[in-house]
Amino acid sequence: MPDAVALRIADEFDAWTLPAIRMTTEELLHAAHAHRPEALMLSSGTRLDAVTVAALPDEVRLVATVSVGHDHIDRAALRTRSIALTNTPDVLTECNADLAFLLILGACRRTAEHQAVIRAGWGRPLGMTEMLGIRASGRTLGIVGMGRIGRAVARRARGFGMTVLYHNRTRLPPALEDGAGFVPELHALLPRCQILSLHVPGGPATEGLIGAAELALLPPDAVLVNAARGSLLDEDALFAALDTGRLAAAGLDVFRNEPHVDPRFLTHPRLFLTPHVGSATRETRTAMGMRALDNIAAFCAGQVPDDLVG
Ligand code: DGY
Repeated sequence: MPDAVALRIADEFDAWTLPAIRMTTEELLHAAHAHRPEALMLSSGTRLDAVTVAALPDEVRLVATVSVGHDHIDRAALRTRSIALTNTPDVLTECNADLAFLLILGACRRTAEHQAVIRAGWGRPLGMTEMLGIRASGRTLGIVGMGRIGRAVARRARGFGMTVLYHNRTRLPPALEDGAGFVPELHALLPRCQILSLHVPGGPATEGLIGAAELALLPPDAVLVNAARGSLLDEDALFAALDTGRLAAAGLDVFRNEPHVDPRFLTHPRLFLTPHVGSATRETRTAMGMRALDNIAAFCAGQVPDDLVG
Protein backbone atom coordinates (compact mmCIF):
# COMPACT_ATOMS: atom_id res chain seq x y z
CA MET A 1 0.00 0.00 0.00
CA PRO A 2 1.18 3.56 -0.61
CA ASP A 3 2.65 5.19 2.51
CA ALA A 4 -0.37 7.35 3.36
CA VAL A 5 -2.65 4.32 3.14
CA ALA A 6 -0.31 2.18 5.24
CA LEU A 7 -0.17 4.96 7.88
CA ARG A 8 -3.96 5.18 8.02
CA ILE A 9 -4.20 1.40 8.35
CA ALA A 10 -1.79 1.49 11.27
CA ASP A 11 -3.57 4.47 12.90
CA GLU A 12 -7.21 3.52 12.51
CA PHE A 13 -7.42 -0.25 12.22
CA ASP A 14 -6.44 -3.30 14.16
CA ALA A 15 -4.79 -4.83 11.13
CA TRP A 16 -2.20 -7.39 10.10
CA THR A 17 -0.35 -7.26 6.85
CA LEU A 18 1.95 -9.70 5.15
CA PRO A 19 5.47 -8.55 4.34
CA ALA A 20 5.38 -10.06 0.84
CA ILE A 21 4.43 -7.69 -1.93
CA ARG A 22 1.88 -10.19 -3.20
CA MET A 23 0.39 -12.87 -0.96
CA THR A 24 -0.60 -16.23 -2.34
CA THR A 25 -4.08 -17.59 -1.74
CA GLU A 26 -2.61 -20.10 0.71
CA GLU A 27 -0.87 -17.32 2.66
CA LEU A 28 -4.08 -15.31 2.70
CA LEU A 29 -6.10 -18.22 4.07
CA HIS A 30 -3.45 -19.08 6.61
CA ALA A 31 -3.30 -15.49 7.86
CA ALA A 32 -7.09 -15.12 7.84
CA HIS A 33 -7.40 -18.16 10.11
CA ALA A 34 -4.60 -16.94 12.35
CA HIS A 35 -6.08 -13.41 12.79
CA ARG A 36 -9.82 -13.91 12.08
CA PRO A 37 -10.47 -10.40 10.72
CA GLU A 38 -13.85 -8.85 10.00
CA ALA A 39 -12.66 -7.49 6.64
CA LEU A 40 -10.12 -8.49 4.00
CA MET A 41 -8.50 -5.80 1.88
CA LEU A 42 -6.89 -7.08 -1.31
CA SER A 43 -6.19 -6.14 -4.90
CA SER A 44 -6.95 -7.68 -8.27
CA GLY A 45 -3.77 -9.78 -8.13
CA THR A 46 -5.26 -11.96 -5.38
CA ARG A 47 -7.86 -14.40 -6.71
CA LEU A 48 -10.72 -15.38 -4.41
CA ASP A 49 -12.34 -18.37 -6.07
CA ALA A 50 -15.23 -20.41 -4.68
CA VAL A 51 -12.93 -22.88 -2.89
CA THR A 52 -11.00 -20.06 -1.19
CA VAL A 53 -14.18 -18.23 -0.19
CA ALA A 54 -15.59 -21.45 1.28
CA ALA A 55 -12.43 -21.82 3.36
CA LEU A 56 -12.50 -18.29 4.87
CA PRO A 57 -13.13 -18.13 8.61
CA ASP A 58 -16.66 -17.18 9.70
CA GLU A 59 -15.49 -13.84 11.13
CA VAL A 60 -14.86 -12.42 7.63
CA ARG A 61 -17.91 -10.27 6.76
CA LEU A 62 -16.43 -7.99 4.06
CA VAL A 63 -14.00 -8.25 1.16
CA ALA A 64 -12.79 -4.80 0.09
CA THR A 65 -11.00 -5.00 -3.23
CA VAL A 66 -8.66 -2.13 -4.10
CA SER A 67 -9.77 -2.14 -7.74
CA VAL A 68 -12.82 -1.20 -9.72
CA GLY A 69 -12.94 -4.63 -11.40
CA HIS A 70 -13.95 -7.60 -9.27
CA ASP A 71 -13.73 -10.48 -11.74
CA HIS A 72 -10.96 -11.97 -9.56
CA ILE A 73 -13.58 -12.66 -6.89
CA ASP A 74 -16.34 -15.26 -6.99
CA ARG A 75 -19.31 -13.08 -6.05
CA ALA A 76 -21.77 -15.97 -5.94
CA ALA A 77 -19.54 -17.73 -3.41
CA LEU A 78 -19.39 -14.56 -1.30
CA ARG A 79 -23.19 -14.25 -1.43
CA THR A 80 -23.58 -17.85 -0.30
CA ARG A 81 -21.60 -16.98 2.79
CA SER A 82 -23.28 -13.55 3.20
CA ILE A 83 -19.92 -11.80 2.83
CA ALA A 84 -20.21 -8.27 1.44
CA LEU A 85 -18.00 -6.93 -1.37
CA THR A 86 -16.83 -3.37 -2.05
CA ASN A 87 -14.66 -1.97 -4.85
CA THR A 88 -13.05 1.42 -5.62
CA PRO A 89 -14.82 3.07 -8.56
CA ASP A 90 -14.39 6.69 -9.73
CA VAL A 91 -10.94 7.37 -8.29
CA LEU A 92 -9.08 5.53 -11.06
CA THR A 93 -11.19 6.74 -13.98
CA GLU A 94 -8.91 9.52 -15.19
CA CYS A 95 -5.65 7.57 -14.84
CA ASN A 96 -7.11 4.55 -16.60
CA ALA A 97 -8.29 6.78 -19.44
CA ASP A 98 -4.85 8.42 -19.60
CA LEU A 99 -3.29 4.98 -19.96
CA ALA A 100 -5.79 3.94 -22.64
CA PHE A 101 -4.86 7.06 -24.56
CA LEU A 102 -1.16 6.32 -24.14
CA LEU A 103 -1.87 2.91 -25.68
CA ILE A 104 -3.78 4.49 -28.56
CA LEU A 105 -0.95 6.90 -29.33
CA GLY A 106 1.83 4.38 -28.70
CA ALA A 107 0.24 1.74 -30.92
CA CYS A 108 -0.60 4.18 -33.74
CA ARG A 109 2.85 5.78 -33.70
CA ARG A 110 4.91 2.56 -33.35
CA THR A 111 6.43 3.81 -30.12
CA ALA A 112 7.69 0.38 -29.01
CA GLU A 113 9.68 0.01 -32.23
CA HIS A 114 10.99 3.57 -32.00
CA GLN A 115 12.10 3.00 -28.42
CA ALA A 116 13.95 -0.12 -29.53
CA VAL A 117 15.82 1.97 -32.14
CA ILE A 118 16.87 4.53 -29.53
CA ARG A 119 17.86 1.88 -26.99
CA ALA A 120 19.97 0.12 -29.64
CA GLY A 121 21.98 3.34 -30.08
CA TRP A 122 20.03 4.78 -33.08
CA GLY A 123 23.15 5.72 -35.09
CA ARG A 124 21.67 6.72 -38.48
CA PRO A 125 18.80 8.95 -39.58
CA LEU A 126 15.56 7.17 -40.36
CA GLY A 127 14.48 7.38 -43.99
CA MET A 128 11.43 9.39 -45.06
CA THR A 129 9.32 6.24 -45.39
CA GLU A 130 10.91 4.17 -42.66
CA MET A 131 8.95 2.96 -39.61
CA LEU A 132 5.99 5.18 -40.33
CA GLY A 133 3.08 5.10 -37.96
CA ILE A 134 -0.57 5.98 -38.33
CA ARG A 135 -1.91 9.45 -37.57
CA ALA A 136 -4.13 9.15 -34.48
CA SER A 137 -5.72 12.60 -34.45
CA GLY A 138 -8.84 12.95 -36.56
CA ARG A 139 -9.53 9.19 -36.72
CA THR A 140 -12.75 7.44 -35.80
CA LEU A 141 -12.57 5.87 -32.36
CA GLY A 142 -15.00 3.13 -31.35
CA ILE A 143 -15.50 2.67 -27.63
CA VAL A 144 -17.01 -0.55 -26.33
CA GLY A 145 -18.41 0.16 -22.87
CA MET A 146 -19.32 3.78 -22.26
CA GLY A 147 -19.12 3.76 -18.47
CA ARG A 148 -17.02 6.18 -16.47
CA ILE A 149 -13.72 5.15 -18.08
CA GLY A 150 -15.13 4.90 -21.63
CA ARG A 151 -16.54 8.42 -21.29
CA ALA A 152 -13.22 9.73 -19.96
CA VAL A 153 -11.48 8.24 -23.03
CA ALA A 154 -14.12 9.90 -25.24
CA ARG A 155 -13.37 13.28 -23.62
CA ARG A 156 -9.70 12.90 -24.46
CA ALA A 157 -10.53 11.78 -28.01
CA ARG A 158 -12.48 14.97 -28.63
CA GLY A 159 -9.30 16.94 -27.90
CA PHE A 160 -7.61 14.93 -30.63
CA GLY A 161 -10.34 15.79 -33.14
CA MET A 162 -11.56 12.18 -33.27
CA THR A 163 -15.05 11.09 -34.21
CA VAL A 164 -16.31 9.00 -31.29
CA LEU A 165 -18.76 6.11 -31.73
CA TYR A 166 -19.75 3.80 -28.93
CA HIS A 167 -21.49 0.56 -28.16
CA ASN A 168 -23.07 0.06 -24.77
CA ARG A 169 -25.85 -2.09 -23.30
CA THR A 170 -28.05 0.99 -23.18
CA ARG A 171 -27.87 4.34 -24.89
CA LEU A 172 -26.62 7.19 -22.68
CA PRO A 173 -28.56 10.42 -22.16
CA PRO A 174 -27.34 13.18 -24.53
CA ALA A 175 -25.44 15.03 -21.78
CA LEU A 176 -23.30 11.94 -21.12
CA GLU A 177 -22.98 11.07 -24.82
CA ASP A 178 -21.54 14.52 -25.40
CA GLY A 179 -21.60 14.14 -29.17
CA ALA A 180 -20.55 10.47 -29.34
CA GLY A 181 -22.62 8.36 -31.73
CA PHE A 182 -24.43 5.32 -30.29
CA VAL A 183 -24.28 2.08 -32.28
CA PRO A 184 -26.66 -0.50 -30.74
CA GLU A 185 -24.97 -3.57 -32.29
CA LEU A 186 -21.31 -4.30 -31.65
CA HIS A 187 -20.97 -5.90 -35.09
CA ALA A 188 -22.31 -2.74 -36.73
CA LEU A 189 -19.81 -0.59 -34.80
CA LEU A 190 -16.70 -2.57 -35.74
CA PRO A 191 -16.50 -1.79 -39.49
CA ARG A 192 -16.64 1.92 -38.61
CA CYS A 193 -13.76 1.91 -36.08
CA GLN A 194 -10.28 2.89 -37.19
CA ILE A 195 -9.34 2.58 -33.54
CA LEU A 196 -11.24 0.28 -31.18
CA SER A 197 -10.88 0.68 -27.41
CA LEU A 198 -12.41 -1.76 -24.90
CA HIS A 199 -13.87 -0.53 -21.60
CA VAL A 200 -16.23 -3.22 -20.34
CA PRO A 201 -15.71 -5.25 -17.15
CA GLY A 202 -14.29 -8.76 -17.22
CA GLY A 203 -16.42 -11.78 -16.32
CA PRO A 204 -18.54 -14.47 -17.97
CA ALA A 205 -20.73 -11.99 -19.89
CA THR A 206 -17.78 -10.43 -21.73
CA GLU A 207 -15.44 -13.44 -22.01
CA GLY A 208 -13.98 -13.54 -25.55
CA LEU A 209 -16.02 -10.50 -26.61
CA ILE A 210 -13.50 -9.72 -29.35
CA GLY A 211 -12.56 -12.83 -31.32
CA ALA A 212 -11.74 -13.72 -34.93
CA ALA A 213 -15.25 -12.84 -36.19
CA GLU A 214 -15.14 -9.40 -34.56
CA LEU A 215 -11.58 -8.59 -35.68
CA ALA A 216 -12.53 -9.56 -39.26
CA LEU A 217 -15.19 -6.83 -39.19
CA LEU A 218 -12.70 -4.03 -38.45
CA PRO A 219 -11.50 -1.99 -41.42
CA PRO A 220 -8.01 -2.87 -42.70
CA ASP A 221 -5.20 -1.26 -40.72
CA ALA A 222 -7.30 -0.84 -37.60
CA VAL A 223 -5.75 -0.34 -34.16
CA LEU A 224 -7.04 -2.21 -31.12
CA VAL A 225 -6.60 -1.04 -27.53
CA ASN A 226 -7.43 -2.94 -24.36
CA ALA A 227 -6.90 -1.38 -20.94
CA ALA A 228 -9.85 -3.23 -19.37
CA ARG A 229 -9.42 -7.01 -18.96
CA GLY A 230 -7.43 -9.64 -20.85
CA SER A 231 -10.41 -12.00 -20.88
CA LEU A 232 -12.22 -9.74 -23.39
CA LEU A 233 -9.84 -10.64 -26.20
CA ASP A 234 -9.10 -13.92 -27.98
CA GLU A 235 -5.30 -13.68 -28.12
CA ASP A 236 -4.89 -16.26 -30.92
CA ALA A 237 -7.28 -14.18 -33.03
CA LEU A 238 -5.29 -11.03 -32.15
CA PHE A 239 -2.03 -12.51 -33.45
CA ALA A 240 -3.74 -13.82 -36.59
CA ALA A 241 -5.21 -10.36 -37.28
CA LEU A 242 -1.81 -8.70 -36.77
CA ASP A 243 -0.20 -11.20 -39.12
CA THR A 244 -2.77 -10.70 -41.89
CA GLY A 245 -2.60 -6.89 -41.53
CA ARG A 246 -6.25 -6.59 -40.52
CA LEU A 247 -4.83 -4.98 -37.42
CA ALA A 248 -2.04 -2.48 -37.98
CA ALA A 249 -1.17 -2.50 -34.28
CA ALA A 250 -2.49 -3.08 -30.80
CA GLY A 251 -1.95 -1.38 -27.46
CA LEU A 252 -2.57 -3.65 -24.49
CA ASP A 253 -2.32 -3.20 -20.72
CA VAL A 254 -4.07 -6.46 -19.82
CA PHE A 255 -3.55 -10.08 -20.81
CA ARG A 256 -5.25 -13.42 -20.41
CA ASN A 257 -2.60 -15.13 -18.35
CA GLU A 258 -1.06 -12.14 -16.63
CA PRO A 259 1.44 -11.79 -15.13
CA HIS A 260 2.72 -14.71 -17.25
CA VAL A 261 1.95 -13.47 -20.74
CA ASP A 262 1.88 -15.61 -23.87
CA PRO A 263 5.48 -15.60 -25.22
CA ARG A 264 4.26 -14.27 -28.56
CA PHE A 265 3.74 -10.91 -26.86
CA LEU A 266 7.46 -10.66 -26.11
CA THR A 267 8.58 -10.33 -29.69
CA HIS A 268 5.73 -9.10 -31.88
CA PRO A 269 6.83 -5.70 -33.28
CA ARG A 270 3.38 -4.16 -33.71
CA LEU A 271 2.44 -4.28 -30.06
CA PHE A 272 2.70 -1.46 -27.56
CA LEU A 273 2.41 -3.13 -24.16
CA THR A 274 2.23 -2.19 -20.50
CA PRO A 275 1.93 -4.56 -17.49
CA HIS A 276 -1.59 -3.82 -16.11
CA VAL A 277 -0.74 -0.36 -14.82
CA GLY A 278 -3.90 1.60 -15.69
CA SER A 279 -4.28 2.86 -12.14
CA ALA A 280 -0.58 2.88 -11.28
CA THR A 281 0.07 6.49 -10.31
CA ARG A 282 0.92 7.68 -6.81
CA GLU A 283 -2.23 9.78 -6.68
CA THR A 284 -4.61 7.11 -7.87
CA ARG A 285 -3.21 4.16 -5.92
CA THR A 286 -3.38 6.29 -2.76
CA ALA A 287 -6.96 7.33 -3.54
CA MET A 288 -7.91 3.69 -4.20
CA GLY A 289 -6.45 2.54 -0.90
CA MET A 290 -8.22 5.34 0.98
CA ARG A 291 -11.50 4.56 -0.72
CA ALA A 292 -11.22 0.90 0.27
CA LEU A 293 -10.49 1.95 3.86
CA ASP A 294 -13.52 4.29 3.83
CA ASN A 295 -15.64 1.31 2.81
CA ILE A 296 -14.17 -0.89 5.53
CA ALA A 297 -14.60 1.82 8.19
CA ALA A 298 -18.24 2.38 7.21
CA PHE A 299 -18.96 -1.34 7.18
CA CYS A 300 -17.34 -1.92 10.56
CA ALA A 301 -19.36 1.01 11.97
CA GLY A 302 -22.56 -0.71 10.89
CA GLN A 303 -23.20 1.59 7.90
CA VAL A 304 -23.73 0.69 4.27
CA PRO A 305 -20.41 1.38 2.49
CA ASP A 306 -20.59 3.71 -0.52
CA ASP A 307 -19.13 1.15 -2.90
CA LEU A 308 -21.08 -1.95 -2.01
CA VAL A 309 -21.11 -4.18 -5.11
CA GLY A 310 -24.72 -5.21 -5.61
C1 DGY B 1 -9.00 -2.23 -11.60
O1 DGY B 1 -9.15 -1.41 -10.70
O2 DGY B 1 -9.87 -3.04 -11.92
C2 DGY B 1 -7.69 -2.20 -12.30
O3 DGY B 1 -7.69 -2.95 -13.46
C3 DGY B 1 -6.62 -2.71 -11.36
O4 DGY B 1 -6.83 -4.05 -11.16
